[in-house]
Amino acid sequence: MPLTWSNIEQHIRTCTQCPLTHTRNLPVMGRGSHEADIMLIAEAPGTQEDRQGIPFVGRSGEILNRLLCDCGLSREEIYITNILKCHPPGNRDPKEEEKEACFPYLKYETFLLKPKIIVCLGRVAAQRIISPDFKITRQHGTWTCRKDCALTATYHPSAILRDPSRYEEVKKDFLEIVKKRDLISHSLRYVN
Ligand code: URA
Repeated sequence: MPLTWSNIEQHIRTCTQCPLTHTRNLPVMGRGSHEADIMLIAEAPGTQEDRQGIPFVGRSGEILNRLLCDCGLSREEIYITNILKCHPPGNRDPKEEEKEACFPYLKYETFLLKPKIIVCLGRVAAQRIISPDFKITRQHGTWTCRKDCALTATYHPSAILRDPSRYEEVKKDFLEIVKKRDLISHSLRYVN
């Protein structure tokens, strides 16, 4: 079967690879532009996302929308997804086996999108994608490069809900992300 966005969706809808597929209400697919330069990866859908089948529609989503707007970005120009496509009951951290069962879907999304920048939202995503010993408090806003893709991490929007004073710090990280996106698209103009 060819790898297409609709095939990935179909596989996620009918997935039975881990027990969360039996307890969730709706699976939550990635959303946004399939041409996006920037891919945001968070950990797992919350309760509202589980009800609606859309990422970041709850309180964390409101914070994320405000951050994007303050940095001149819109949801339509980026792509947002999660490591887990199904809600873990009680919003607990994803288990190792759940992350591994779901990881192929994230790989397919990344393969099709070919983002220039990947932004991990929070510790769980940063430790799975960037490095298992990633310390979000000390290392947020730092950059690494992998296969022509720039990777960074910042706090998950829920961390701002717990401590609103973090907003400015996260906004600073997002402004750097926009700068990096502009720099990459500017330099690509000269080699294409
Ligand atoms: N938190 C996440 O990590 N992902 C969502 O989609 C919503 C809240």
